[in-house]
Amino acid sequence: MDYDFLVKKAIEAKEKAYAPYSGFRVGAAVQLADGRIYTGCNVENSSYGATICAERTAIVKAISEGEAKISAVAVASDSDRLTYPCGICRQVISEFRSGDTKIICSDKNGNYKVYDMNDILPHAFAREDINLSV
Ligand code: THU
Repeated sequence: MDYDFLVKKAIEAKEKAYAPYSGFRVGAAVQLADGRIYTGCNVENSSYGATICAERTAIVKAISEGEAKISAVAVASDSDRLTYPCGICRQVISEFRSGDTKIICSDKNGNYKVYDMNDILPHAFAREDINLSV
């Protein structure tokens, strides 16, 4: 897994961010188990709650092109600090996790740390927790 490359794609994707309300631009790059990469940015809205995070933009693009498992997600912003996925995005990444999905959190300079999905979202709620017997 080329983490440097995935972070680079997330930083590139950030350029497309539509963030006129927060001014906080975010980019994400999702790598699928078969190696394909999908990117996304945050897309804000005048009705703030309608805002979509960069990670979910990228994931929805990927999943809507065909069922797939996510191997890694890189996140980038203009911050000096590492950018971590928000709670909703952690849950959405978890839905499509593979055995050891990695979350790569980077800062504006491309410095990053790699985390295991289980450390980013321990005790996740999942399909198995829903009684689907009906
Ligand atoms: N944002 C993301 O795109 N991803 C995250 O994981 C954290 C937050 C966006 C949403 C909003 O457009 C801006 O950052 C400020 O919250």
